[in-house]
Amino acid sequence: MKASFAIVGCGKLGCALAKQMKSSGYPLAGLASKSITSARKAADDIGTDIFSDKPWEITRSADVVFITTPDGQIQAAASLLAENKGLKKNAVVLHCSGSQPSTILMTLKKCEVSIGSLHPLQSFASTRIEGNPFKNIIAAIEGETEAVALARQIAQDLGATCFFIKTHAKSAYHAAAVVASNYLVTLQDMAFRLLQIAGIPPENAFQVLGPLIHGTLSNIEKKGTEKALTGPIVRGDTETVSTHVDEILRMAPDLLSLYKTLGRHTVHIAESGGNITKEKARELIQILSEKKIS
Ligand SMILES: NC(=O)c1ccc[n+]([C@@H]2O[C@H](COP(=O)([O-])OP(=O)(O)OC[C@H]3O[C@@H](n4cnc5c(N)ncnc54)[C@H](OP(=O)(O)O)[C@@H]3O)[C@@H](O)[C@H]2O)c1
Repeated sequence: MKASFAIVGCGKLGCALAKQMKSSGYPLAGLASKSITSARKAADDIGTDIFSDKPWEITRSADVVFITTPDGQIQAAASLLAENKGLKKNAVVLHCSGSQPSTILMTLKKCEVSIGSLHPLQSFASTRIEGNPFKNIIAAIEGETEAVALARQIAQDLGATCFFIKTHAKSAYHAAAVVASNYLVTLQDMAFRLLQIAGIPPENAFQVLGPLIHGTLSNIEKKGTEKALTGPIVRGDTETVSTHVDEILRMAPDLLSLYKTLGRHTVHIAESGGNITKEKARELIQILSEKKIS
């Protein structure tokens, strides 16, 4: 018999998790959220009438409780469960934050439960997602022995691959995820702006850049970052870099500081990969550090 589960926090991840846990054969103990509206909407979507805005009412019967509130509300939600005797003995409580360690649930230890965290490395952008968003993704897991064992089983049943992270390393791990996902969006936004200056409208930008983006990702996957680097910096083409700086200063000065910062970091990658000499790296860094005024 699979563990019964409850969700506290019916937002984007909570709804996806509820749907997929149910599809994977885990009995639903109930859904709870801060507002009854969110809890009711999630319950309608998943097809249950067990929902509440008093989480402890539905978590009491659950073998595993997922706290899927925003990161800043996890401790408060956990405290409410403890104060209202909302957990059964030997239950597992998991939060799903990428940056926070399981130890933020320490207040629950007096309830004789096992605490952990399970972070699905995926972007959940809506409360209604088609298909299984956990399939073939990585789930980072840490915490106490019983919690980790159940989290691992759940992750596998959802179709994810487990990755065990050290409790103290969660912040660096999450920063990596933010750079890989959120800052990729920021970089594409910057590229789209520069394309627009070149006369290509934003609605066509992805069509233009898409093959380049996919090709680059494929090169990183096959060869690693140093060998995937192409373009003027790795060629030591100082004149091209200099004209970029001048043009961005003229047409989009607010993007210049980011362009230069990324450029300087790229010079270090090119140099450490043995693609440019120390002297060339110095020249490029000089161009990418000069303060010019438009
Ligand atoms: N979204 C992602 O891509 C993603 C990916 C991986 C991990 N996560 C993690 O998943 C967690 C939830 O993120 P999310 O993006 O799903 O957030 P979200 O869409 O904002 O949903 C959070 C939900 O929790 C409810 N809530 C807030 N405080 C509460 C409390 N004290 N008690 C009960 N419910 C409460 C919210 O309020 P209402 O009831 O008022 O609606 C909302 O429905 C976070 O820890 C986040 O780091 C998110």
